[in-house]
Amino acid sequence: MERRDFVKTIPLTVLGAAAIESSETASAQRGGAPWDDGGGATNRGQVHHLLTKKSGTPDYVQHWRESDMDGIGPDGKAVPGYKAAGAGSPPKISKHDPSKAPHQMKLTREEQDILDGKKGEALAKLMKTIVRHGNLFGAEKLVDLGGNPHSSTFLGSPALSPIVEVLKECADAGLKAYAPYTINPRPFDLYNVAITREMELMMFESLPLQIELDHLHARLGGRGMTTRSCMCYLPEVGNAPEPGTYVAWGESSAINAGNSILGIRTNRNSMGMELLCALLGKAPYFGLMTDEGRQAKWLVEVKTSGEPDWGVLGGGIGEKCVEDVPYIVGIDKYLDGKITPENLHKLKAMGAATASSGAVGLYHVENLTPEAIQKGRKLLVEGYQTYVVDDKEIERIRSGFPNLWPKNVKKPTAAHIGCPHNTYHELVSWSTRIHDALKKRRQEKVALQTVMFCSVEVRDHLFHDYPEMVRDLHVAGVRWSNTCTVCISGFKGYADGNFAVTNSNKTRKYSNSRYVSEPDMLEVIMTGELPG
Ligand code: F3S
Repeated sequence: MERRDFVKTIPLTVLGAAAIESSETASAQRGGAPWDDGGGATNRGQVHHLLTKKSGTPDYVQHWRESDMDGIGPDGKAVPGYKAAGAGSPPKISKHDPSKAPHQMKLTREEQDILDGKKGEALAKLMKTIVRHGNLFGAEKLVDLGGNPHSSTFLGSPALSPIVEVLKECADAGLKAYAPYTINPRPFDLYNVAITREMELMMFESLPLQIELDHLHARLGGRGMTTRSCMCYLPEVGNAPEPGTYVAWGESSAINAGNSILGIRTNRNSMGMELLCALLGKAPYFGLMTDEGRQAKWLVEVKTSGEPDWGVLGGGIGEKCVEDVPYIVGIDKYLDGKITPENLHKLKAMGAATASSGAVGLYHVENLTPEAIQKGRKLLVEGYQTYVVDDKEIERIRSGFPNLWPKNVKKPTAAHIGCPHNTYHELVSWSTRIHDALKKRRQEKVALQTVMFCSVEVRDHLFHDYPEMVRDLHVAGVRWSNTCTVCISGFKGYADGNFAVTNSNKTRKYSNSRYVSEPDMLEVIMTGELPG
C-alpha cells in the first residue's frame, strides 16, 4: 500500500465506524468513500482551480495527511517495531484468538446507559466509538478524566473532513469538553513568516476546513487563540495537570512531556480520539495509563564526554526503543538534578525527538522525572534491554540525517527555532544572544529570516519584559510566530523556495529542514553560512 493510500485511512482508524456514521452517510450521498474529501470540500465551495479531479484535493496537500502518530517512516514503510499501542504492544492484541469473542471491557451501569442511548444519540455514538477503540487495545474499563484536555486536532485539511463532521454533530447536540482545553498551534501564519501571495493562496486551498474547525473548537470548549501551542504545560498557557491525573491528550510531544515530566497518565491519542474522550470525560484504561504500561523495557546509558546534543540523543533513543518506555541514566547531572523553567527545554528537545524518530510516549530519567524519583530502577522490567549512547553513537546518529535540499542549494534561507514551541527562557536566551551578536559585529540585520516559534502568551511575556530588545530584533529581521514549525517548514509552497535550518530534530524529521546544533545556530543566523 502506498503511503498516500495508507494515510487516507487514518480518519477511519481514529474514529471508528460508529462515530463517522454521519460522514459515511454524507459521503455515500455524494458518491464517495467516507475518507474521500472531494465532495465535502467541493460542496463547501472553498477549494477551486488547483484541485485534482480524482480526490478533490490539491496535489500539494497530500502531505497534510501525514502524522507522527501513524508509524510510517519517510520512506513510506512501517516503522519497525511500531504497533500503534504507544507503550509496547498490549498482550491482549497479539494473543487475541479470532475464534473467540472479541475483548469486551467492563462498563458501569451509567456507561451502559449512555451506550444504550439513554442520554442521547450523539453521546451513544461517541461512547460506542470509545468503547470499540478501547476493546481493540484490550482496555479493562473506562476511567474518569481530570485536569484539562489537550487537542492535536489542529489541521483544517480535507483529510480531516470525517472528524470535522463528527465534531459538528457533537457540537450541534450541545456536547462540551469536561473542562476547557488547549489546542495545538494553527498550521499557518500569514503575518510573521515571509510568504508570497501565491503561498497564501495555497495555504487557504490546502486548509479549507480551518475556520470551521476553529469555530468547532470554540463551541466544544477549546481555549482561545493566544494559548494555541504544543507546549500547553508552560505556566503562560497553564495546562499542567497534577501528577497521576488521567487525561486523554493528543500531540505526541505534549503526551511525551506530560507523561514523563508532569507524571500525568495519557496514551498517544490520535487526532479526533482525544476530543471524543474529552467530550465524554472518560478514556479507555490501557497502555501508558496503567502501572504495567509505564514500566521501562530499555535501560539507556548516556556516557557522552560532555552534555549531549539533546535532539540527536532523543532521535537515537526513538529509533532504538521505537514505542517502548526507556529508563535513561547519566543525564540528570546536565540539569543539576532538578527540572526547572531554565532547563526544561533540554528534556523537551530530547523527548519530542524520541516521539518523532520513534513513538515514545513516556520516558523516565533517573533522579529527575517524578516516577523515576519515586521508584528508581524498579521501573525496569525483568529482562530489559540496554542501549549505550556515547560520543561515537551521537556522531553516528547525526551523520545519518539526510540532506533533502536540491543539490544546487548550498545556503539556508531561513532559521526556524523551536519545535516544540519555545519556552520563555529559550526566547530570552535566543533573543539576547542574537541581540548581543548583532551589536558586537556592528551588523544591522540577521543574515536570513529568523523565526522563533511560541504561543502568543509566551511571546507576550518576552515582549513585556524586554520591549527594547524586541524592537531592535524586529528591525534586524527577527520574528516570533505562533504557528506550527513543521507545518510551515514542510508546507509545499513554502518549502519549495525556503531552505531552513532548525534546532529541532522533530522539524528536521518531518520537513526538508537541516538540523544545526544549538552552539552552531547563532553563527548561521549571523552569517547565512552552514557550519563547516
Ligand atoms: Fe509543536 Fe508543530 Fe513541532 S505542534 S511539536 S511545533 S510539529
